[in-house]
Amino acid sequence: MTQSTASPFYLDCDTGIDDALALAYLLASPRAELVGIGTVSGNIGAAGGARNTLDLLHLAGQPDIPVAVGAHDPQVGTFHGGAPHVHGVNGIGEVELPTSDRETVAESAAELLVRLARQFPGELRVVAIGPLTNIAEALRLEPELPRLVADVTIMGGAALVPGNMTPVAEANIVNDPEAAAEVFAADWNVTLVPLDVTMTNVLEESHRQELLSAGHAVPQALGEMLGYYFGFYVSQFGRECSAMHDPLAAAIAVGGVELAVAPVVHVEVDTTHGPGRGQTVCDLRGIYQGYPAVEGARCRVVLSLAEEFAPHMLEVLASRWPAVRPEGAAA
Ligand code: RIB
Ligand code: CA
Repeated sequence: MTQSTASPFYLDCDTGIDDALALAYLLASPRAELVGIGTVSGNIGAAGGARNTLDLLHLAGQPDIPVAVGAHDPQVGTFHGGAPHVHGVNGIGEVELPTSDRETVAESAAELLVRLARQFPGELRVVAIGPLTNIAEALRLEPELPRLVADVTIMGGAALVPGNMTPVAEANIVNDPEAAAEVFAADWNVTLVPLDVTMTNVLEESHRQELLSAGHAVPQALGEMLGYYFGFYVSQFGRECSAMHDPLAAAIAVGGVELAVAPVVHVEVDTTHGPGRGQTVCDLRGIYQGYPAVEGARCRVVLSLAEEFAPHMLEVLASRWPAVRPEGAAA
């Protein structure tokens, strides 16, 4: 059963270094009870992402959360093989985790999502931090899904900034634009956490050292994975640090961070096969008037935060895995 202060959450991910951080954040947050996880191909194939997820749950001592393998291929074309240059060949920065003896559940990720939405009608909150293939499939399996689910938070897209896969498209959206278009067209409340806010809230080497020195297996593993992730981001930021895409989406979903600019607007996805493919076309023309309310709009696009994210994330992780200090050391 859900705790009185925690909402039930379904996480859809392509685990992934920053996905692993998002998972740890949701496990640590008192505002979330993770009731199911589905995987999709993105940073790594859907089956590999599920293995990483099972192993992380095992490491965190929560092996009972059901993990379902989702779509291997996007709606159009086939899986491109992942992002080993960003996340490593195993998806988690070549960090070797102890292997969980648990297996994935028999149902698909879309079936798991639909089952949980029926089990927690009006309560289930969805966090999608990979391509949106499973979420679109769930919408087709259960047309009532938008009414069964409380809300959906998506890490993806680029509203007013460049993309990270093409000049205009972000990875999670461009990896399955047709699915993303379906998800944004559905009649539900969506929060979009795009590159605009995830590239401007970074984790620094000092933060990584805090994880490494905490004295627990989960933050230790996350810190090691981040070593690999930082290596990729040197090419982006010119120093050892990283963007915080997925954990920021998780934190926004649970209401853990205060937002500064987050207008509710219409969002569409470009599904053409030209240079705009995968672009999230966010109607931000209200920018000059302080974003007045837009009739019929259902998508809150987070453009900036009112606080720093990294200290918040570390605080939440430390609440679950408090730093172990040597005997006699000052707190
Ligand atoms: O563009 C960043 C997103 O793509 C993140 O979710 C990352 O994990 C990858 O899936
Ligand atoms: Ca991801």
